[in-house]
Amino acid sequence: MGLFDKCANVTERVKYTRARNEFFYLREFEPTATPLVRMGGRELLMLGSNNYLGLASHPKVVAAATAAMQKFGTGACSSRVLTGTCPLHAEVERRLARFKGTEDAVLFGAGFMAMMGTVAAMTDKGDVVLSDELNHASIVDGCRLSRADVLIYNHNDMASLEEGLAKAAGAKNRLIVTDGVFSMKGTVADLPRIRALADKYDAAVMVDDAHGAGVLGEHGRGTAEHFGLEGKIEFVAGTFSKTFASYGGFTGSTRDAVMYMRFAARPFMFTASPPPSVAATVLACLDVMEQEPRLIQTLRSHTRFLKDGLRQAGFRLEETITPIIPILIGDDERTFKMTGGLQDEGVVVNPVVPPAVPKEGSLIRVSLMATFTSGQLEQALDKFRKVGRAVGII
Ligand SMILES: Cc1ncc(COP(=O)(O)O)c(C=O)c1O
Repeated sequence: MGLFDKCANVTERVKYTRARNEFFYLREFEPTATPLVRMGGRELLMLGSNNYLGLASHPKVVAAATAAMQKFGTGACSSRVLTGTCPLHAEVERRLARFKGTEDAVLFGAGFMAMMGTVAAMTDKGDVVLSDELNHASIVDGCRLSRADVLIYNHNDMASLEEGLAKAAGAKNRLIVTDGVFSMKGTVADLPRIRALADKYDAAVMVDDAHGAGVLGEHGRGTAEHFGLEGKIEFVAGTFSKTFASYGGFTGSTRDAVMYMRFAARPFMFTASPPPSVAATVLACLDVMEQEPRLIQTLRSHTRFLKDGLRQAGFRLEETITPIIPILIGDDERTFKMTGGLQDEGVVVNPVVPPAVPKEGSLIRVSLMATFTSGQLEQALDKFRKVGRAVGII
């Protein structure tokens, strides 16, 4: 096969799915992360964003980012290690460490880089990484870059994890890595039992809490807070691309581990520092989360409302306590029909089909923002009922 043949195949596939009205990728929205967006001159309800608390357009957050840009310029233009660190970077690392209950934290240019860089830097030849089969691609790539052996355990299956840990008993070190909230199914990792197994088999635990912040725990501090395990997880990593309304990521850990990563994690050393306005955005998000706890409560009541309404209408939902609501459809055809029908009716959702989920496990991923009004959710629910009936799902 020639170097470019695979590219032509993808172009054909895109053309084919576009012609069948099954291409729901790379759509252009304006803006992307508010309850109401515009696409092709039409106004639609955005039920596919990860801006869970709606902070991406919060006036205080926007003002803080703007002020930082005016003071520090648009980019830091150097690696953090060299001349790319400003006081905002250092401050946000301290604040994130406090938020996550770790001694220190290190910023990365993206959540992807945080996960990949942490796994690859912290494990080496002779170690074993135990990774949930549904972990995010960034962890998968971190495992590929690490020289450690990798054992994949069945999704959130503690017997399978224990089997892996027993097999890895002779390894130098063991690191269990799990998403806190799994991005496609919205399920929450069984962190208490993972912690107990880690203690039993002398393993460290890393949680990718990309979807946990702002969502789980009384103060929205994430999966560890939800389970009362703050300060008891060796590596707590996150992203700024969801609740923190920006772009970037971080890993919290011990002071020593964080300093080690600053010199051993290649996606930290060999890339430029996130723009200062990113650090200002995250700091403002942390402030707003403290000042306006009602946002978390509203997100939860919105989630309950929509889940109850969808269930009553006859949709099958994956069990979840998060604002990620997966509507189980099964086959790809009806999943795309439902997505297209909703889009025609003014509701944006994301279809999830294999290989992101197992065969016949296709679903529609709905995600909520605290900033929806009740009226908008009622309207969305009406559309779900109408299209669900038309497509033969309910
Ligand atoms: C579970 C999980 N981990 C990591 C990432 C990567 O984060 P980022 O978008 O900041 O690169 C994402 C999201 O994209 C995610 O859902």
